[in-house]
Amino acid sequence: SAADKGTYPFYMLKEVDEQPAVMRKIVQNYLNEDGDPVVDSQLLESIKEADRIYIIGAGTSYHAGLVGAKMFEQLTNIPTEVHISSEFAYEQPIMSKKPFFIFLTQSGETADSREVLVNVKKQGWPSLTITNVPKSTLSREADYTMLLHAGPEIAVASTKAYTAQVAVEAVLAKAIGEYLKHPRAAEFDLKHQLGLVAVGMQALVDSKEKLESVASRYLSKPRNAFYIGRGTDWSVALESALKLKEISYVQAEGFASGELKHGTIALIESQTPVIGIITQDRTAGLTRSNLQEVISRGASVITIVTKHLAQTDDTIVLPDVDPLLTPLLSVVPAQLLAYYTSLGKGLDVDKPRNLAKSVTVQ
Ligand code: G6P
Repeated sequence: SAADKGTYPFYMLKEVDEQPAVMRKIVQNYLNEDGDPVVDSQLLESIKEADRIYIIGAGTSYHAGLVGAKMFEQLTNIPTEVHISSEFAYEQPIMSKKPFFIFLTQSGETADSREVLVNVKKQGWPSLTITNVPKSTLSREADYTMLLHAGPEIAVASTKAYTAQVAVEAVLAKAIGEYLKHPRAAEFDLKHQLGLVAVGMQALVDSKEKLESVASRYLSKPRNAFYIGRGTDWSVALESALKLKEISYVQAEGFASGELKHGTIALIESQTPVIGIITQDRTAGLTRSNLQEVISRGASVITIVTKHLAQTDDTIVLPDVDPLLTPLLSVVPAQLLAYYTSLGKGLDVDKPRNLAKSVTVQ
């Protein structure tokens, strides 16, 4: 069955490997022959009325929301905010006049996110749940649902659900953008781009040996590590750090690279691992100079860099795709670095201590 580990030692590795197929599944389910999004027209009509999109999620789903917000803003021009569900539930900001809510939740059962949805419904605001689980609580309770089509995700550390969330957000952003006749959305050849992403992901999951050796060389001993990046690379840095800490128990943090010098750089010692994510033209040079600052303090630097920005000594090179979609590739090496660090320590990769796949308490 789909939830069978087969020859894999852990579900997480299987789920990482499934990501190229998940991208193709999303193309099949959501993009027609001409590459146009196939999305419920009532949903589009409802979002069209909105003056602001609010994305709500917890954990990895929150991180997928951070990436998605940039797509919504660029492809639709609708201002978009992202909130942690357990915060939004009790500290609701001043709202716009016509909010539209998007709930991101792999399981569809997270209590913190449901708490927000219950309040949203009380106030009569429209909502969409993007989830991997049909008929889950948040799917049933929201006005609309879009499914991830990622297949069951068993490992506690979320991988293919994250990339599926980002890809489905891209579909929705393009659909809304086209509906609103926003030129950038029409030009965005998502079908072609997701094809490139699937091929690129395959190349990355095929480079396991390299990632295993990077993990064992740099991440097996230190107690802490940092992922840094700017903009969308920062969003991926947050998710990358979460992957590493949840399964390998390395105290990992994701930082906005420019912010490092304002405090956190005090933590850099000889051989502290600092992993720089560099995929965006505008910020590549700046993140590179931030990496120089930590190199001069003795850090061991690993880089994850998109091909056209790569230099000879970069560690991991990602195939080029549309700048909005680079998170779908940059996260994959981070997933595998976390996996191999955990594996190398002999930990239970799929069932890290203290964590649950789905958290149904607030
Ligand atoms: C738990 C899981 C995380 C997940 C979070 C949100 O904490 O361990 O991996 O990201 O819940 O889950 P959801 O199902 O709402 O995406």
